Amino acid sequence: MLCGVALMALGLYGAHLISRGFSTAEEPSYLEKAVARAARNLSIPRNARLEANRWSPTPEVLKEARESFRDRCATCHGPDGSGQTRVGRSLYPKVPDLRLPRTQNLTDGEIRYIMRNGVRLTGMPGWANPHDEQGDDSWKQVLFVRSLRQLTSVEREQQAAAANSAHYVGSPSCRKCHAQIYERWRKTPMANVVRDPREFPDAIIPNLSTNSVSRFTRDEVALVYGSVWKQRYFTKRGDDYFPEPAQWDVTNRVWRPNFVAHGTDWWAPLYPPDNMQRPTGPRCDGCHSVDYNIHTKQVAEWKVGCERCHGPGSEHVQHPTRGNILNAARMEYVQASDTCIQCHPQGRPLTNPIEGRYYDWPVGYQVGSNLRDFWQLEEHTLGEMTFTHYPDGTAHKNRMQGNDFVQSVMYRRGVTCFSCHDVHGTEHNAPLRKPADQLCLDCHGPLSMNGPRTGTL
Ligand code: HEC
Ligand code: HEC
Ligand code: HEC
Ligand code: HEC
Ligand code: HEC
Ligand code: HEC
Ligand code: HEC
Repeated sequence: MLCGVALMALGLYGAHLISRGFSTAEEPSYLEKAVARAARNLSIPRNARLEANRWSPTPEVLKEARESFRDRCATCHGPDGSGQTRVGRSLYPKVPDLRLPRTQNLTDGEIRYIMRNGVRLTGMPGWANPHDEQGDDSWKQVLFVRSLRQLTSVEREQQAAAANSAHYVGSPSCRKCHAQIYERWRKTPMANVVRDPREFPDAIIPNLSTNSVSRFTRDEVALVYGSVWKQRYFTKRGDDYFPEPAQWDVTNRVWRPNFVAHGTDWWAPLYPPDNMQRPTGPRCDGCHSVDYNIHTKQVAEWKVGCERCHGPGSEHVQHPTRGNILNAARMEYVQASDTCIQCHPQGRPLTNPIEGRYYDWPVGYQVGSNLRDFWQLEEHTLGEMTFTHYPDGTAHKNRMQGNDFVQSVMYRRGVTCFSCHDVHGTEHNAPLRKPADQLCLDCHGPLSMNGPRTGTL
């Protein structure tokens, strides 16, 4: 009886296939997919299905697996596992989205078996490596596939709720459980952008007595800003900070005037012509701190702390789950890169002044939301030389990484700022994931894809 039904189903399926022709551009029918998938899963031996993974997802293991995934799998599956690649979309059956429950509900053993043996009659090749008897590579690859898992709808709701109900607890409270990340991040320029010279006596780089531009003393310096390109010094008056009129050029080791003249930054004519009357709150502080409050003028932290990119962490610290902390890697590409562009663009708020003051940073924006609801990038017409742009549209000012990157095809294909930078710190300059001369070859090398979402550039 059962056999008869199966034969009949197969007959119907065959007739159905013939009537449809065989273009690989089409989506297989539901029946076709279900039959093929059931047959595939049934053919995975029981002991392979139940085998347990000996490895755990440490940052090192995931890093190694990510690189091997880019090399061997991303041509078809995309660097993010979405399958949105030229090759992936033109295979038959199409490449599945590895982030979805369909794949994530497979056991570790099943994922590994599929990876090592491939799937017959599909584009999925087998990857068993004869030099890897224990299969450690493939176990690590399984962990990478797992790390791509999208949040469930319940987790997404939890996360949105936590972002509203939680409060900021400060970067040191993340250290206990994420010690490795904390130790790397601690040494990055973003983690040290604003320092109090009483707490960090060596924060002031130059000898202040060599300053012939506009003298000030150590005691007048409440906060020191920057250490890589230039260093500026803030004095406190009342509950506001004001920039000293001299700055240190770190590269060239000279003092220079620090004053924004009319005809440069858009806000210059809206402020008094004296630096000591230009408070830093509306013009600077929102980008060098966590949670600058425009009413109390207080911050949670004077640095680009963990929670500036991950959202307030009190609930996560109490009961750590994925559902109560934000992670840009699980966001769509626009919100993902907005996490960085919030501080790395030239532009202005959509509505200004805000409560009587002109702000130069995206007041109200929170990680996970759309920056475009709070902020517009500086406009540019090709052919014009402006304060921010060269005539060809490339950056002419600092802090233009956001303006530049959104013009790139890479941005629209799902590459993010953190595809190239590991902001928790690396041994490379501008915390790049790899040395600059190797970085691009991950996706543009002779043996890898020419951009994971296309056959050729
Ligand atoms: C040449 C294209 C191609 C490459 C390269 C490729 N895959 Fe696949 N992969 C596919 C296709 C097509 C399928 C769908 C097979 C099917 O329908 O059963 C698939 C299926 C899978 C599945 C099963 C998902 C599911 O829900 O059924 C996993 C897991 C997987 N691939 C992992 C990998 C990994 C890991 C690599 C790199 C080591 C890799 N693939 C390389 C094309 C590819
Ligand atoms: C008590 C230990 C603990 C503390 C403290 C802690 N975390 Fe976590 N964190 C974890 C664990 C465990 C996970 C893995 C949760 C999971 O996969 O469900 C995690 C995961 C994460 C993730 C990844 C979420 C994802 O989508 O995979 C981020 C980001 C994160 N933590 C950031 C932070 C930040 C920022 C702080 C400080 C405010 C912090 N953590 C403090 C234990 C902790
Ligand atoms: C400037 C923004 C930024 C800051 C600051 C930052 N992170 Fe992250 N973090 C990210 C991004 C982006 C990702 C996703 C990277 C990826 O997976 O490609 C991430 C991923 C993570 C993850 C999950 C992935 C993993 O490697 O385990 C953890 C945990 C985490 N961050 C913890 C922290 C902690 C703890 C701090 C502070 C010591 C911190 N982050 C500071 C942007 C930031
Ligand atoms: C709160 C604002 C803020 C956010 C959010 C932010 N940055 Fe930054 N970033 C800064 C500031 C300020 C500096 C300058 C630090 C310095 O030089 O002292 C900086 C510096 C950098 C540098 C240069 C560091 C060096 O070593 O030369 C890189 C690269 C960078 N950021 C990338 C990112 C990426 C990628 C993200 C998103 C994951 C991000 N930033 C998010 C404010 C921010
Ligand atoms: C929209 C966010 C934003 C605003 C507003 C902003 N900055 Fe920055 N600042 C950054 C970022 C991002 C960087 C690093 C990237 C770059 O400069 O290209 C930076 C770099 C710097 C540096 C150089 C750091 C170094 O290590 O060399 C100094 C000093 C600085 N800012 C001071 C200020 C002052 C003073 C103001 C107000 C007049 C201000 N910033 C306004 C985001 C901002
Ligand atoms: C395709 C890879 C890639 C992407 C995507 C990318 N960057 Fe970079 N970034 C680089 C490289 C390479 C450098 C140069 C590093 C060096 O000078 O050693 C760099 C330098 C920087 C610097 C230091 C600036 C300087 O003048 O030295 C900052 C800040 C920065 N990137 C921020 C960002 C932000 C923010 C985004 C997203 C809006 C982003 N990057 C996207 C590769 C990338
Ligand atoms: C994570 C993968 C990835 C990395 C790393 C990467 N690229 Fe790309 N790149 C892409 C993708 C995807 C495209 C879009 C291909 C398409 O669909 O046409 C692309 C396109 C480009 C283009 C075409 C024009 C444009 O406006 O974007 C250039 C140029 C480029 N990449 C340069 C670089 C350079 C230089 C680096 C290293 C600093 C780099 N890429 C690193 C994935 C990557």
